[in-house]
Amino acid sequence: MQQKLLIRHKAALAIRQYMDELGFLEIETPVIANSTPEGARDFLIPSRLNPGKFYALPQSPQQFKQLLMMSGVDRYFQIVRCYRDEDLRADRQLEFTQIDIEMSFAEQEDILEITEGLMQRVFAVAGYDVQPPFPRMTYTQAFERYGCDKPDTRFGMELTNVSDIVGEGEFRVFNSVLARGGEVRGLVAPGCATFSRKQLDDLTAFVAIYKAKGLAWMKVTDHGIESPIAKFFSESTLNLLRERMGAETGDLMLFVADQSKIVSDALSQLRLILGEQLGLIDHKQLNFLWIVDFPLFQWNEDENRFDSEHHPFTAPNAEDILLLDEDPGKVRSQSYDLVLNGNEIFSGSVRIHQWDIQQKVFEILKLKPEDIQARFGYFLEALQYGTPPHAGIAAGFDRIVMLMTGDDNIREVIAFPKTQKGTCLVTGAPSEVTEEQLKELFIRVIGSP
Ligand code: AMO
Ligand code: AMP
Repeated sequence: MQQKLLIRHKAALAIRQYMDELGFLEIETPVIANSTPEGARDFLIPSRLNPGKFYALPQSPQQFKQLLMMSGVDRYFQIVRCYRDEDLRADRQLEFTQIDIEMSFAEQEDILEITEGLMQRVFAVAGYDVQPPFPRMTYTQAFERYGCDKPDTRFGMELTNVSDIVGEGEFRVFNSVLARGGEVRGLVAPGCATFSRKQLDDLTAFVAIYKAKGLAWMKVTDHGIESPIAKFFSESTLNLLRERMGAETGDLMLFVADQSKIVSDALSQLRLILGEQLGLIDHKQLNFLWIVDFPLFQWNEDENRFDSEHHPFTAPNAEDILLLDEDPGKVRSQSYDLVLNGNEIFSGSVRIHQWDIQQKVFEILKLKPEDIQARFGYFLEALQYGTPPHAGIAAGFDRIVMLMTGDDNIREVIAFPKTQKGTCLVTGAPSEVTEEQLKELFIRVIGSP
């Protein structure tokens, strides 16, 4: 623990030194603030002085850092606490620390370059020799090849689309999925043709967690393909399949047929557990990877509208501006994530600096005019005062330190972390408060669910 605290301290020191050398100012922004749309639930603070009103703890300093650019601060950074009321996971805490960066007159390339240099300096603290530039992959390629936007590229086992080949066969499950616009993709588990019925059933149960309705398998043996579904395909189709998948004798081919999103989810998770189980991952390796060309919006099935893929201040790709009106789902954004060994460690974008485009994006997100005014009126106003083009990025500092220390939960590198249920084991927080305190805030607790 002592060693981890020391590495965290040295990493923070290296960040401050590097950013200072590049002329970035560390500026603190309010913690008692208003809502920031980063996609999580807000933590609210009741205001005693303004009864019935609430502050929100910032999910990130996004609007503040952009306001700083609009105010003539050219280069800002901050090592800053952020607060998000979301379900906790190994890489998520309710409060966590970002390395937050923003820069005026900057484009995507500038931010990527500064971030790469930063990673080189920070990982040097733990004795790593990180060599930029980092490889890049588009969002679309990442989903095709790995089924997710944060692929762990320390091992292969990439996904292969075989829809066209299996469509030639007579397997009803595949054909009906394809007829409904779905797809069939698969991966090769090397040397796993020896898997037992039980092992295959376990894998099927595993992909079911991600809504896959089944897991078709084919073993490549000395006597050809062994599989309950082999009978539905001709010899030549099976050969083509094996070839496309790159499967050798002794390998196991696994397939999921479904709508693209389910296939991606199921196979990307399957790939990760198999990679781990089969010992394909070199735990000493650091694989940095930029993911670029994200879509600007993501369709929200439940609410029948678009959500921002990153956040509403992200600039559309200049080539796609006309699509904002015609087909918002097709607009690419100028945003980028940095992935390290399958963890999203940085995320950022070039920002919208024109008032009318910002207004249009809010409208596409189906925000009501009165809500736009109430929540972002000050921001839209600031955009009218000659805002410079600007861009930025933010890192999950806890995640970075976790990867430096070789841990697999950010709790390990945070002093006094919260449990899975959001409680503090040391202080017992959250706790009840007195009637007196509630009265002062004009709050009555009406019970618990
Ligand atoms: P984003 O929401 O992607 O972007 O957050 C940036 C990075 O913060 C880390 N992170 C977390 N770490 C621990 N616990 C959490 N609950 C948690 N949530 C996020 C991730 C993530 O990549 N304002 C934008 C950045 C920008 O556009 O400049 C933002 O906050 O590593
Ligand atoms: P069934 O005809 O339902 O007995 O399925 C035969 C095989 O196909 C089993 O191994 C199932 O796991 C598999 N299977 C069923 N549905 C799917 C699907 N949507 N994608 C991939 N494999 C499937």
